[in-house]
Amino acid sequence: MKRIICAILLGAGVMYVILHRNLRRTNDYWLPPTDGGDRKGQIIGCPYKPGVSSLIKGEKFYPFLCINDFVKVSGDHGSHRIELPYGIKGAERYFHMALSRLQNCRVFTEDDSPSCKKCVVVGNGGVLRNKSLGETIDSYDVVIRMNNGPVVGYEEDVGRKTTFRLFYPESSFSDPIHYDPNTTAVLVVFKTHDLKWLWDLLSGQRLIRTNAFWKKPATQMIYKSHQIRILDPAITRKTAYELLHLPTRFSKHVKPKHPTTGLIAIAFAFHICSEVHLAGFRYNFEDRNSSLHYYGHDTMSLMIQNEYHDISAEQRFLKELVDRSIVVNLTEK
Ligand SMILES: *[C@@H]1O[C@H](CO)[C@@H](O)[C@H](O)[C@H]1NC(C)=O
Ligand SMILES: *[C@@H]1O[C@H](CO)[C@@H](O)[C@H](O)[C@H]1NC(C)=O
Ligand SMILES: *[C@@H]1O[C@H](CO)[C@@H](O)[C@H](O)[C@H]1NC(C)=O
Ligand SMILES: *[C@@H]1O[C@H](CO)[C@@H](O)[C@H](O)[C@H]1NC(C)=O
Repeated sequence: MKRIICAILLGAGVMYVILHRNLRRTNDYWLPPTDGGDRKGQIIGCPYKPGVSSLIKGEKFYPFLCINDFVKVSGDHGSHRIELPYGIKGAERYFHMALSRLQNCRVFTEDDSPSCKKCVVVGNGGVLRNKSLGETIDSYDVVIRMNNGPVVGYEEDVGRKTTFRLFYPESSFSDPIHYDPNTTAVLVVFKTHDLKWLWDLLSGQRLIRTNAFWKKPATQMIYKSHQIRILDPAITRKTAYELLHLPTRFSKHVKPKHPTTGLIAIAFAFHICSEVHLAGFRYNFEDRNSSLHYYGHDTMSLMIQNEYHDISAEQRFLKELVDRSIVVNLTEK
């Protein structure tokens, strides 16, 4: 009798392992790592539109780092051998410190029922001006915005809803007027100092050194710690190498190019949405005097001179997305 029970248990164990491995390998599903079991309903199984899977090479993974398993997950993705902004090598301790200040790593809240999300990624481009797309943008399940693109005062053109906002210290809001309790704020980490910055602000420390930043970073965090997540650098890496085909090495006298937050936001959307539409992204920069953003007075010429990004690679990629009907360009008209 004992032997039979043993055999059954062993068989069940083997079946479990096989099923589990197959499930993990299937392109259309991913299982989030656990964080104390409060992430039920987080399993998102949703087919991609044709074209998307070839684009992101069929590998969809959990977009945020979780404190209890980010080292293991980074090992699985190969991120432990790569330095920031594309991996965690050498910064593990700082990732751990920053993550220890966050309450969870959920993508959606439990009451967010539809698991196949229709998303719009709202770029900060001047093409949004006077198009009155606000209502259309708000009608999506998920609205993804980035950096300090304001909603307040621009509702008619850009809408009110912000489900996710991707940011880094230099592009974060300082003014609490922009606080939205319904937003999940996603830190895109470019350097170790970004993690120290988050830790400092959430620990109530005053920022002492701000010279590690290329522009003065926000000196207070307007979001509550339960609203903040850290993007898996593997998403940034995928954006650079698989979507934009940026070189992996740069010669000594050129500044290495990294993807813009806008492009990282689009890659993020492909990991959590079944359908992705774009607004406020532009691929033709012919008129250097036209406005760069839908707010403020910067012009296109500022972007064209940018030495940290490869704007032509981004424009080619955006054009390809629209031409192959992988995304819809809401700012078309
Ligand atoms: C948008 O509309 C406002 C007022 O209607 C106008 O002053 C402004 O020039 C317009 N901007 C663009 C970019 O068309
Ligand atoms: C946040 O969501 C609640 C419930 O859906 C809604 O009533 C409220 O207006 C939203 N707040 C903002 C600032 O969008
Ligand atoms: C979307 O359409 C607008 C208006 O035609 C155009 O300026 C912009 O470049 C397009 N953006 C993308 C990403 O296709
Ligand atoms: C852009 O602005 C500059 C100076 O303000 C002006 O000389 C130039 O003609 C403008 N170019 C276009 C295409 O409007």
